[in-house]
Amino acid sequence: MAIGVFDSGVGGLSVHHKLVERFAAADFVYLADQANTPYGGRPGEEIVALTRAGCERLFDEGCDLVVLACNTASGIALRRLQQTWLPGFRRERSRPANVLGIIVPTIEAATGLPWEHEAERRGDKVEKLDILAVFSTPATAASRVYEIEIDKRRQDVAVFSQPCPELAPMIEAGASAGDLAPIIDGHVAAVTQRIGRAPDRAILGCTHYEIVAELFRAALPPGTPLIHQPQATADALVRYLERHPEYLAGASGVRRFLTTGKPGAQSSLVEAFWGTPLSFERA
Ligand code: DGL
Repeated sequence: MAIGVFDSGVGGLSVHHKLVERFAAADFVYLADQANTPYGGRPGEEIVALTRAGCERLFDEGCDLVVLACNTASGIALRRLQQTWLPGFRRERSRPANVLGIIVPTIEAATGLPWEHEAERRGDKVEKLDILAVFSTPATAASRVYEIEIDKRRQDVAVFSQPCPELAPMIEAGASAGDLAPIIDGHVAAVTQRIGRAPDRAILGCTHYEIVAELFRAALPPGTPLIHQPQATADALVRYLERHPEYLAGASGVRRFLTTGKPGAQSSLVEAFWGTPLSFERA
């Protein structure tokens, strides 16, 4: 038994890193769909099909629980897979199987409210006091998932999404901080201009961006709180496994890294983030 972690590429390692810290004894299999990265500019149907293939691969590798460490897959594909594919897949399988996303824990962290909570709709106008910027892929921004789900829970929070089309591919390719910084500065400036002032808080709504969180921190006004998806996801997984003891996470400390792309070492940007050399096997 192992926990599967899926992303289009190396971004999900930011979530995986935190999960491994929290569940040191558990077994993990990470799958990067680098043959098909980036997902962020793809049509929804492709994102659904690729996410399903990634989950199937991880279930075949012995995982019972898969964490989609990807906003694009979580926001576009997860509900569809839960409604149309997982129930049948579970029936055919003799073991439990589930897929969890990272948007629910992020929204819980951003709103300070449990997912089940929905605000009572009042007729009178609510002042938006808290301005939240969400940096993400174009597909996540176009889905408006953060706007819709946060608005259901907190009418005093205004969400401004900023699509950053070039960032995940650049991070995936191991771009230097010198090349990434002006692009990130440009996206922070663009969202600041749309809001009319700096955001009060920000979500790095693409797991690749956590790898260069320092550059976002430097571009935003000093001290702007960042909502960290890896932390929020690890906290949510602790709660999930307490409620679902049928999911065994393994206890041998196995760490496997698979890729549908080129196997071997990852970029120095990724290795610097990870802290030790990292080698991927062919999926
Ligand atoms: N890391 C992913 C996310 O969180 C996907 C990036 C991409 O493939 O475009 O959205």
